[in-house]
Amino acid sequence: MRKPYLAGNWKMNLELKSALGLAGALREHVGSRDDVDVAVAPPYVYLSEVIVALEGSPIRVGAQDVCDRTQGAYTGEVSAVMLKDIGCDFSVIGHSERRRLYGEGDELCNTKVHRALEAGLEIILCVGETLDEREEGKTETVVRRQLSEGMAGVPGDQLDKITLAYEPVWAIGTGRTATPEQAGEVHRYLRGMWAGLYNEQSATRLRIQYGGSVKPSNAKELLAIPDIDGALVGGAALTPEQFQPIIDSAS
Ligand code: PGA
Repeated sequence: MRKPYLAGNWKMNLELKSALGLAGALREHVGSRDDVDVAVAPPYVYLSEVIVALEGSPIRVGAQDVCDRTQGAYTGEVSAVMLKDIGCDFSVIGHSERRRLYGEGDELCNTKVHRALEAGLEIILCVGETLDEREEGKTETVVRRQLSEGMAGVPGDQLDKITLAYEPVWAIGTGRTATPEQAGEVHRYLRGMWAGLYNEQSATRLRIQYGGSVKPSNAKELLAIPDIDGALVGGAALTPEQFQPIIDSAS
């Protein structure tokens, strides 16, 4: 069925030495196992060195974001083609911190999705509601909009390149996790919606990660939910002591 997919989003953390130390420890821990997919998303400046450090390992390396333009006078930006060129496998797009702190909307996320796919990158597309939206009963409306607008115009032959991450904003970095039932409900909703947008077959293959305060102590019960196919992990992905047991709880 769907192979569990555990990705560590390092955000703006670590220094070169600690980043390479973490990559090395994960490389050793994961070995050549192929029952789970493991990925890391280091800050841009460490990508090349982490890619080299993980060469020959099944661990995938991706960026935390990507520019919506192909090339040119966009100071400070990094294009999908550049990411592909240095050996990235994927990019995270639409993380709630990009949406909330940098004002990124669904249209911009959609353009980024297209740029990434054109360059041959895979994508982890993040969706999730804020606490206010949840309390107002708008969770489904919000994730529906983020998914349909984020994926607008993506052709059917690209669907296997997309992983979704459901990340309730109120659970990110707060220590407050959605219960497995709460998360499972939204994951089921997203898979059903995907089947409606595309088809059942593709929805059955689609991997949906859960993200938001995943840690060794709650990973197993979250990953045991049938529609939760992995995790996008922030804080607990920064040390091998925490990320490794999360990886192991998927098998
Ligand atoms: P967290 O972050 O695990 O620190 O809550 C998750 C994420 O933002 O991807």
